Amino acid sequence: MPDHSSIERLQTTVVLAISADGKIADFRRSPARFSSAADRTHLEKQIALADGILFGAGTLRAYGTTLRVSNPELLQSRQQQGLPPQPVQIVASPSGNLNSQLRFFSQDVPRWLLTTEVGAKPWNTHESFERILIVPTSKGKIDWRDAFQQLTDLGIGRLGVLGGGELVASLVATDLIDEFWLTVCPLILGGAVAPTPVAGDGFLANVAPRLELLGVETIEQEVFLHYRVLRSTLSGAVSSLSSGTVPAPTI
Ligand SMILES: NC(=O)c1ccc[n+]([C@@H]2O[C@H](COP(=O)([O-])OP(=O)(O)OC[C@H]3O[C@@H](n4cnc5c(N)ncnc54)[C@H](OP(=O)(O)O)[C@@H]3O)[C@@H](O)[C@H]2O)c1
Repeated sequence: MPDHSSIERLQTTVVLAISADGKIADFRRSPARFSSAADRTHLEKQIALADGILFGAGTLRAYGTTLRVSNPELLQSRQQQGLPPQPVQIVASPSGNLNSQLRFFSQDVPRWLLTTEVGAKPWNTHESFERILIVPTSKGKIDWRDAFQQLTDLGIGRLGVLGGGELVASLVATDLIDEFWLTVCPLILGGAVAPTPVAGDGFLANVAPRLELLGVETIEQEVFLHYRVLRSTLSGAVSSLSSGTVPAPTI
């Protein structure tokens, strides 16, 4: 069973908008700007609850920008809690291959980079990132337990995870996601190559991570789903997958 003892303070919540057919972007992997103003308000609220916001380089490349907290009530609430106005925006990019001309780099937000020794090189002389965290990788994949330990040591207690599918898949597979917020939006994107909330190799249904529905709200045409990841079943699924033993299906 995975060991959570050293990183139990870090709480992770994935926040994504999906089409009614479960895609997070169209087949061109365009930025997902298909949700309503109500969803953007919801997203900003979730961002305002976090100490740090984590996203993959693919998401940054698609959007070129991030969402800042700008609602005065949310800013006031953060101030009352002794939090800085903006959570830290943390980009996961082992390659470090990011365009420094992206608008993200001129937004008034604190920025950290999660990368490798090689990926850090182009950024060491830049002031674009306040902090560069070097994380171990195996076959190009980030060691999330090490990364989360570093984030915890740096005072990140609540982490909002804003995608994309590759990043979320690796965190689910490492049993490091606590909650999901999924906004189901009224459109069909279709396409075999259009990304979904969780990419990666996938799980067999009989060992797939299970969720508990914490809440559901409908605002006009969108449905806001709030789930908690059931830790015990996920641990079983992850350890089954990593050991290569898949339990016999129950019929
Ligand atoms: N609907 C929504 O709410 C929503 C939200 C966010 C994104 N999106 C969509 O999602 C798409 C982007 O998702 P994506 O899956 O292609 O990309 P992604 O997960 O955002 O980023 C993938 C990149 O991040 C780094 N990375 C992430 N996880 C890693 C891991 N475990 N190990 C090593 N490196 C890792 C790598 O960067 P390097 O290549 O730099 O090494 C990798 O190429 C876009 O189309 C975007 O529009 C939708």
